[in-house]
Amino acid sequence: MDYERYDRIRAVQWCGDYLRLLDQRLLPQQEQWIECRDASAVTQAIRDLVVRGAPAIGIAAAWGVVLAAQQAQPLEPALAMLRAARPTAVNLMWALDRMKSRIETGNDAAGLALEAQAIQDEDLAANRRMGELGAALIAPHSGVLTHCNTGSLATAGFGTALGVIRAGVAAGSIERVYAGETRPWQQGARLTMYELVRDGIPAQLIADSAAAHLMRSGAVQWVIVGADRIAANGDTANKIGTYQLAIAARHHGVKFMVVAPSSTVDMATSSGEVIEIELRDPAELLSTAGRRTVVEGAQAWNPVFDVTPASLIDAIVTERGVIEQPDETAMRKVFG
Ligand code: MRU
Repeated sequence: MDYERYDRIRAVQWCGDYLRLLDQRLLPQQEQWIECRDASAVTQAIRDLVVRGAPAIGIAAAWGVVLAAQQAQPLEPALAMLRAARPTAVNLMWALDRMKSRIETGNDAAGLALEAQAIQDEDLAANRRMGELGAALIAPHSGVLTHCNTGSLATAGFGTALGVIRAGVAAGSIERVYAGETRPWQQGARLTMYELVRDGIPAQLIADSAAAHLMRSGAVQWVIVGADRIAANGDTANKIGTYQLAIAARHHGVKFMVVAPSSTVDMATSSGEVIEIELRDPAELLSTAGRRTVVEGAQAWNPVFDVTPASLIDAIVTERGVIEQPDETAMRKVFG
């Protein structure tokens, strides 16, 4: 795998006493960086989607704890503040729990920085492994559809679902790549297309509403998505619109793959029914690129994740292995 070509973006960068984040609200038009110098700035950046994507949120939060320790702030309130930044992606809570365990053995900033760096490094290694495992499932001459952004921007690097796509393209098995826009925040249009174009991977953007029509055409054999939280029975929360893709995929005989590191698996959550789904400001739907597009006085409902039942998932790819036809028994075999 040519990582020089396929893994060049690092959106979360630790700089010794501050955290540098590529501002994902401005991509692809502007590549601007934000410097977070304390835990509350990191919390705000997570909440405002400067940094987004489940693994990247967890990594940023871990560095937020390091900043609090460096400034000799009380760590419990910093942990609680970061934890409350967004509710659905369990990587956030997972990373903070890991930092908390490290704090219990000593709260020196240098030790905590080693832990945050380990979280970041392990995520990159997991993504590369999942790329190999996921790409091995894809037959030659395949087309794939992805949703949201699951690439280097959303992780420590390489990506989860986008990592599998990168690996499949590099291996020659994936011949066609489609990305849904991902309204309302346009992660697919703004971020996934940005990554694919930078890598020189030919890809076509589709309106989210074109997905079923695309599947009917026979052009895609797999839908490949990431996850924000995978419950003990395999139910998977991911970006709003994922569930309808899974339904359309099953109807058209298209396979459905979820790619996520073990830090996204939440065995303490029994099923998708109890996953908290983040509701964001309706204003995100009422305007496009900062310009109001909907009549004044209109209201909107803006859930930003949904749950795909395990029964609609053909494979969950983690760095620990592939779980085909996931259910609680299959999940417990890998995750205890
Ligand atoms: O609201 P976002 O942009 O943070 O949502 C991101 C997603 O839903 C991704 O698919 C998921 O976090 C996996 S990223 C590797």
